[in-house]
Parts: sequence; C-alpha cells; structure tokens
Amino acid sequence: MDIHSQKILILDFGSQYTQLIARRIREAKVYCEIHPYNIGLDRIKSFAPRGIVLSGGPSSVYDKGAPVVDKKIFGLGVPVLGICYGMQLTAKLLGGKVERSKKREYGGASVHVDDKSDLFKDIVPKIKVIKEPGVDGPDYLPFSNLSTDEAPLNVWMSHGDKVKELPRGFRSVAYSNNTDFAAMEDEGRRIYGVQFHPEVVHTPNGDEILGNFLFRVCGCMPSWTMKSFIDTAIAEIKEKVGEGRVVCGISGGVDSAVTAVLVHRAIGNNLTCIFVDNGVLRKNEADKVESTLKKSFHMKIRRVDASGRFLKKLKGTEDPEKKRKTIGAEFVRVFEEEAKKIKNVAFLAQGTLYPDVIESVSFKGPSATIKSHHNVGGLLKKMKLKLVEPLRELFKDEVRALGRALGMPDEIIDRQPFPGPGLAIRIIGEVTEKRCAILREADSIVLEEIKAAGLYTKIWQSFAVLLPIKTVGVMGDERTYENTVALRAVTSIDGMTADWVRLPYEVMERISTRVINEVRGVNRVVYDISSKPPSTIEWE
Ligand code: XMP
Repeated sequence: MDIHSQKILILDFGSQYTQLIARRIREAKVYCEIHPYNIGLDRIKSFAPRGIVLSGGPSSVYDKGAPVVDKKIFGLGVPVLGICYGMQLTAKLLGGKVERSKKREYGGASVHVDDKSDLFKDIVPKIKVIKEPGVDGPDYLPFSNLSTDEAPLNVWMSHGDKVKELPRGFRSVAYSNNTDFAAMEDEGRRIYGVQFHPEVVHTPNGDEILGNFLFRVCGCMPSWTMKSFIDTAIAEIKEKVGEGRVVCGISGGVDSAVTAVLVHRAIGNNLTCIFVDNGVLRKNEADKVESTLKKSFHMKIRRVDASGRFLKKLKGTEDPEKKRKTIGAEFVRVFEEEAKKIKNVAFLAQGTLYPDVIESVSFKGPSATIKSHHNVGGLLKKMKLKLVEPLRELFKDEVRALGRALGMPDEIIDRQPFPGPGLAIRIIGEVTEKRCAILREADSIVLEEIKAAGLYTKIWQSFAVLLPIKTVGVMGDERTYENTVALRAVTSIDGMTADWVRLPYEVMERISTRVINEVRGVNRVVYDISSKPPSTIEWE
C-alpha cells in the first residue's frame, strides 16, 4: 500500500504545539504534513487529504490581520478538526460567535464529554497518579471501570477567547466549568472543534481523541510504519539514482549515519561516505563511527584527517560566527576534493529532516538566524550534484526509529546532538591544538560519568566548555593558576528551547573531581544554570 495514499493536512496558525499535532498523528501511524494556513484552496485540493486539522495559534479571531483560512475548505467534503484557535475560527467562519475574554485560561481543566460523539467514543478516562517524589512510573492510569459519563477528562487548556454561540448545524459535545462549548461537532458535515489541546501530554486521553478523528471520522488506516517507510524510501532512492554514484558526508551524528545506512541498503557500494576529521571532534568519535559503519554495515568510507588544515585556518580566530564560517568553508573545500576522487559521482545524500523543510514560520526558532550553519549549496552547483534527502519527511524521533529498524546500534542512534563546528564553539576564545586536547579530555569524562549515572539518553545534550579564564587553585602544597571548565547539561524537545538539568550532586561531584584530577591544565569546574531562552545551549 502506498504510504502516502491516506494523509492528513495540518494547517498551521502559529501554535507552539503544531509540531506536536503532527507527531501524535504520525505516532498513530498516519502520514501528515504541516503547511501554512494560507496555502490556498488549490494546493489543499491537490494535496488530497483524508482530513484537515486546523492548529491553535496565538491570535484572537478578532485581531486585525488574524490568520484566516478559506471558508471553502468546509465544503470540500473532507473532515475538519479545529483545535483551540482552529475551533474558534471554524465557529466564526461558519456563523457562530466567539467571545473575547479578559482572562486567559491556561493549564489543566476537567471536561465532561458526550461519548456518543465520534470524537469521544470508547475512551477510558485516565486519572492522574499521585506519586512520591522521585518515584518512576506513568503519570496517568486508565480507569477501566469508569466511563466518560461518570468521570470528566483531564485536558490542557491554553486560550484567551472562547466560543459563545455555536454555528448552525453544530452541537456541543463537551462542557467544563468555564464553558458550555469545550468541544463541538457537526456530524453531518464531519466538522469538529476542541477548545483544549489533545496533542499535549497533559491531555492524557489526547491520543485516543485524535485517533477517533483519524480512524472513525476520516477512515484512515494505520499504514505509516517504519517498515513501510523503508520499502518506499528504498524504491524511491533506486528510482532516482539508478546506476549513479552517490556521496554522503557523515559527521558522527544520527541523521547522517541513518541517511548513509538507508542509501546503502538501496544502492550498496555505489555509495561512498566521506568522513572529514576537522580536528574539533569529541574523543575517539571518528574511530567509533567509522568502525561501526564499516564493520557492521560494510560501507565504503573515506576518512580524511584534515585536522591540521582546520586548526591552521582557525588560528587567531575568536569570533564565534567567524569560527563557524571558517569551519563551514573548509569543510566544503575538503569534501569537494575528496568527492572529486570518486568517479562519476552524481548525487549528494544529505540528512535533511522534516523540521528543516516545514515552510511555516513558527518553526524557525531564533537559533536558525542567530547562528549560521553549514551550507553545501555552493558544492552542489559547482560539482553539478543532485540531492538525495531520504529523511525529508521525518521528525528526529522517527529517524531514531528508522535507524533501529535498519538494525543500527543504540550507540549511534541515541547519540546526543553535536554541532557541526564541534569543540571549536565550546572553546571560548582561540582554538588551539592544546586547548582542544584539554577540552576533549574534560568532555570525555563528562560523558563517561553521565553515561555511568544512566542519564545520557534522558538528557538532550551534556558537555564541557573551556573558558578563557584562569583562576587560582591549590594542589598539594602548590599554588596553581589554571583553566576553568564549565559543565552544561540541558533537557530539550527540539533544541529551540532548553532547561538546565538538575543533576544529582554526586554526579557533579564525580565529574568535577575527575576533571580536576585527570585533566592537566584545569583546576576549577563550574555548572551552567541558564535556560534557553534567554541563553543558548552552546556558549558560542
Ligand atoms: P543553541 O546554542 O543555538 O543550539 O541553543 C541549538 C542546537 O543547535 C546546535 N548548534 C549547531 N549545530 N552547527 C550545528 O550543526 C552550528 O553551528 C550549531 N550551533 C548550535 C546545538 O548543539 C543545539 O543542539
């Protein structure tokens, strides 16, 4: 079955949760795409969705210039689900009334739902579990002896306005203390609206509600599985590439490694991978990745030790953006030289992910513009290469699932993100071989201890930063005057926002003791307690 034959269209009105809607739908094994709210009726028709979801958004439907969708989408005969702003907009466009409220309702709420509505059929209410602090386990448990008649559902609200009067043809299918219209439906036209957010974890029955929309209302089948994705992707790569040669740059990160393994599955040794050692990698990084891909997957890998070249170019550079540009430009040069050695290379495989290609504004977080990233656009033009981007449709967690389905080891799949400019943007000030060596050792201890404490996969990123500050210390009877290392550990969903990890004191203590004892040139370790925003994850 074609995995794209049944798809859901999500129209984005700028909600911070839009991406979550997509992820929940994909988790239900239904393919979906996010597009801006104003893509126009023709594009919506040619997309041929099985259902349309209107996301939430920060505006009020009464704001000047508030985002509006073409009313004709309600006449396409395609089911529509409006979430929060999406529901208010639906109500307003179809002749109902929306009330501007003075106070926002933000947080958990209870709603009584009508279990005769398709949206709420066969739902077993999940109740919050009261746990002792520090005890693991699920936050919510289903109460199978309670029906939705008897128990209200816990949901997450985040809205200012609310629907005051339903449009003609609609009925209320949920109410709360705060509103008679927490959800609405027009069963005949298959148009639904929910005031709350079924896509967030704080709506524990949200998956079932979205599932009801997908399966009962839209009639989708759960056909978007990794196995079906692999079959389709391999067929597409074969078709596109034919007998052509493909080159793929691998960095040690998950995305490029999964791309390489997938393309290799499709075309075998017509793929050559290039691994550029730029001198600012983590300790043993290059060896580990190379040996795994070579030994377990028998791939052709050209490893280029260009560390000398990179460090020479970086000499005297202190400005973070200049470091990035220098490394980016040198990378492209080295990569080009290597790629030219491969006969008849016609394609470049790249691990571009779905969040990189979503057109909508709400995904372009500040980092996208504040910090520049690698750009291989020039390379494509110069070498006349065509792009192969088999992960373009996937979210990061789907890439991990794909890697697992391809038999890749956890060591690669669970790797924390690591920036292209590597340790260079974690050495504040000039990057020298000596400072790289100090940071590499300190960083390696941080990772060892974080892994030993079982925290590595629970944390988004954990690493050491070498500061351009020397401080006084005492070792034995001697005064020292050495470098300071900062420890950084953050949790995050997508790198756009982040919070610092409340690491156990014992783990911090072990890291600090080991770094100061084992790394020559460091006599002080400090912990970074800044979240993003207003700070960033990396220090440069
Ligand atoms: P910041 O520091 O902006 O980082 O909060 C957000 C995420 O992006 C990574 N990052 C980079 N990745 N090239 C990359 O490939 C870069 O120049 C770069 N700068 C930051 C960072 O590690 C985090 O995951």
